[in-house]
Amino acid sequence: MRPCSSLLLCVLVACEGVDTGPDAGTDSGDTAATDVPDACGYTAMPDLDAAADVVEVDLVASATAWDPGTDVPLTGGMAFNGSVPGPVLEASLGDTVKVHFTNDLDFGTSLHWHGLRVTPEMDGIMQMMGDPIEPGESFDYEFELVDSGFYWFHTHMDTATTIEAGLYAPIVVHAPGEVRPDCDQTLVLDDVLLDEDTQQIAPPDTDMMQLMGRLGNLLLANGRADRRYGWAPGQTTLLRLVNASNARYWDLYLEGHSFTVVGTDGGFLAEPYAVDHLVMAPGERYMVVVEATGEAGGEYRLMNRRFQLHEEHGDMIEPDPMGNGDNPVATFVYADTAVAGSGWVQPAPDVPSWGAAVDNVGHHWLLEEDMEGGTVTIDGQRFPDVPMVDVMMDVDTTFEVENASEMHHPFHIHGNRFQVVDVGGEGVPEGQGWKDTFDIPPRTTVTLVSALDNPGEWMYHCHILEHADDGMAGLMTVME
Ligand code: C2O
Ligand code: CU
Ligand code: CU
Repeated sequence: MRPCSSLLLCVLVACEGVDTGPDAGTDSGDTAATDVPDACGYTAMPDLDAAADVVEVDLVASATAWDPGTDVPLTGGMAFNGSVPGPVLEASLGDTVKVHFTNDLDFGTSLHWHGLRVTPEMDGIMQMMGDPIEPGESFDYEFELVDSGFYWFHTHMDTATTIEAGLYAPIVVHAPGEVRPDCDQTLVLDDVLLDEDTQQIAPPDTDMMQLMGRLGNLLLANGRADRRYGWAPGQTTLLRLVNASNARYWDLYLEGHSFTVVGTDGGFLAEPYAVDHLVMAPGERYMVVVEATGEAGGEYRLMNRRFQLHEEHGDMIEPDPMGNGDNPVATFVYADTAVAGSGWVQPAPDVPSWGAAVDNVGHHWLLEEDMEGGTVTIDGQRFPDVPMVDVMMDVDTTFEVENASEMHHPFHIHGNRFQVVDVGGEGVPEGQGWKDTFDIPPRTTVTLVSALDNPGEWMYHCHILEHADDGMAGLMTVME
């Protein structure tokens, strides 16, 4: 038996019959499991329009057998422009974005620009609710960017299957005057559940998975379990993190380093704050700055801690296919020579801060587990029967999300942005910025405030994709 090159795989499959040696299989062309780390940075989609304020791209979704780092391409895989994650959609605040999208899948789909305040026609929901982009068809998405920061796009039909299969990609929108660090790196986090014998995506949707959310047994950074990125001592790195998992909450730390959180879902923060680990719910984004204080030649792993979705019952622990320990996500490999880093300059966005709830309550949502039905409800119903929420545009409004269930739900609202002003009566953690996706802990009420400025009919839903597909979703009308 060949020795394992990947500790993670050893744990997963105990090495039995799995050939992961460096000379095994062929490289899919993206990154091989070699010892040479990838350079820092990301690949943006080519801009087909010469105008400075227009970004025009071609995008194709198709069945694509991609290699998650096991040397076994996933026959059920899907990808944007042939890569997982899809290439970065990169633009600047104020730009017009034109996406010529072609659906080469064999089922209808729609795309959603998670976190961007686009118009309802471009949000993917109208298509999802009545007019999907059919196989072989094309659709032109077009919108103006009124938000800078870090976002992502993904399919918005059969999400538990299609996002698991790889249909997700980052969006970077540069702020005016944004100073680029030595390394600007998108890092898309995902987990996939592979059948242990075939190493293929496991069949979806047991009833249990539907209720618990689908947790994977392989952790991916930018689509692979074996990512290695090259750093130089002294450099400053901006990591743009997104949790693209179906259900997994991540709890990340980087060996030997700390994070400075400089941005959240809706762009850069007015005031950064330091953390030694970072919890991310599905759909959430964080931008963190890491100073490369490690040693020349050293290797430091980005690690994920176990996060329990359910509140604890005595010493009963919910099962996680990754086990109960910490697991490596990616490795940062230091060069031998230090660089004089350029440091980090925090952009100074104008982020209002309500700080507390306002009297005008727009809605109080109630999330409940329906044990008999084996499902989770919003306001007692499932989509499309959840009552419509109507709110006035441009008026300071409080929203409460009460989670009466025993598990965490990442609550996401399309087309608008919010601030968290309270979590369970304890106030808020530091560094509040704009958010569109919120962890609602078990048996806890989270209070949001905003003056919604994007009119139209918007979807909101739990971003545990099994829950969303199962109807844990509703619609909200922002009235002019
Ligand atoms: Cu990222 Cu409606 O979703
Ligand atoms: Cu969204
Ligand atoms: Cu949920």
